[in-house]
Amino acid sequence: MKILIINGPNINMLGIREPDIYGSENYKTLCESVENHAKELGVEVSLFQSNHEGALVDEIQRAYGVFDGIVINPAAYTHTSIALLDALKAVGIPTVEVHISAVEKREEFRQISYVRQAAIKTITGKGINGYLKAIDFLVNYK
Ligand code: DQA
Repeated sequence: MKILIINGPNINMLGIREPDIYGSENYKTLCESVENHAKELGVEVSLFQSNHEGALVDEIQRAYGVFDGIVINPAAYTHTSIALLDALKAVGIPTVEVHISAVEKREEFRQISYVRQAAIKTITGKGINGYLKAIDFLVNYK
């Protein structure tokens, strides 16, 4: 099984950005945790991060016919991007939406998620562990 892990804008700033909200672990730790977990499960993972909406769309399109699952944290684009929603719908790959923070308990503008319409599951507020739970979910998803 091959899973693509996509992270949107400012996720590369983990550990520096608002640690009270996003924790003190950095992006490198996120990548290593995901890679170690995938290895234990015998799953192949590829990690991609970009601050650019179009680059994220390109990556989702490239996943077509290559990956069996997508884990995506679109970050701020969660709340704005119809382009990401359309790309996920276009490729039709089972997708889990992940947020490090509990977005449902935060500002009003974070209550909207466009990509959620294309996701089979949403995981929020579990920190980096949310990505591992998302992988577990995809592995068990029939
Ligand atoms: C986030 C939540 C978003 O609202 C925010 O814009 C992010 C990160 C999260 O992982 O909790 O950049 O997706």
